[in-house]
Amino acid sequence: AIHRPLHGRHVLVTAGPTHEPIDPVRYIANRSSGKQGFAIAAAAAQAGARVTLVAGPVHLPTPPGVERVDVETAREMAQAVEQALPADVAVMVAAVADWRPETVAGRKIKKQGLAPEPLPLTENPDILAGLAASPRRPALLIGFAAETNDVIPHAQQKRARKQVDWIIANDVSGDVMGGDANAVQIVRENDVVSLPEMPKDDVARVIVERIADALAR
Ligand code: C5P
Repeated sequence: AIHRPLHGRHVLVTAGPTHEPIDPVRYIANRSSGKQGFAIAAAAAQAGARVTLVAGPVHLPTPPGVERVDVETAREMAQAVEQALPADVAVMVAAVADWRPETVAGRKIKKQGLAPEPLPLTENPDILAGLAASPRRPALLIGFAAETNDVIPHAQQKRARKQVDWIIANDVSGDVMGGDANAVQIVRENDVVSLPEMPKDDVARVIVERIADALAR
C-alpha cells in the first residue's frame, strides 16, 4: 500500500487540446501539448490506480497501464468523460476549446475574394463544470487553470465558481505550453501548495502523492 497508494481507485484524466473542425481540412485548436496530463495519468498508474486517459489530438505515447480514449472535439471529450464514470478522482488537464464553429462545412471552403467570411462560433460545453454538477461527481475533482497574472486570486475564484475541490494553477506567462517544465500551485479550500518549477513528470508525481494523501483521510 505504501508503493501503490491508489490501488483500487479509478482516476480519470483529460489531456491535450481539442480540435474543432471548420471544414474537412481546417480546425480551431490551441497550443496544449498534452504532456502534463499524460504525465499525471502515468504517475497515477504507477501509484496503482486504474486510469482512463481521455486524450485530444496529441503526439504522445500511451503511458504503461493506462486505458486511453482518443477524441478530437470538446463534445467527443465530454461524451468520453461521461462514459468513463464512475471515477474516484478526475483531473481535468485538457485545454478544451471554448468555442467551435457553429456549422462544419461538408466541403473545403474555397478562398474567394480578399477577406474570408466571418466564421460564426458557438460555445462548447464546460466538461469540468458538468462533472461538478453531475450526480456521479467524482469525490475528488481537480481542474487546471492557465493564468498569466494574479494567479492565486483567479484560481480561487475559478475553484469556487466551478465547484471543484482543487484548482492547479500554472503560470503560462513563460514557455510552459509544449515545454517540459512547469511551476504549479495547488489551490485548495483552505490552503495553497506552491511547487517550484520542475519537470512535468515530477509535478505529476507530487500531484498524485497529494491525491493519495487526500483519499487516505
Ligand atoms: O475556465 P477555464 O477554461 O480556465 O477552466 C479550466 C479548467 O476547466 C481545466 O481543468 C479544463 O480542463 C476545464 N475545462 C473543461 N471544459 C471546458 C473548458 C475548461 O473541462 N469547456
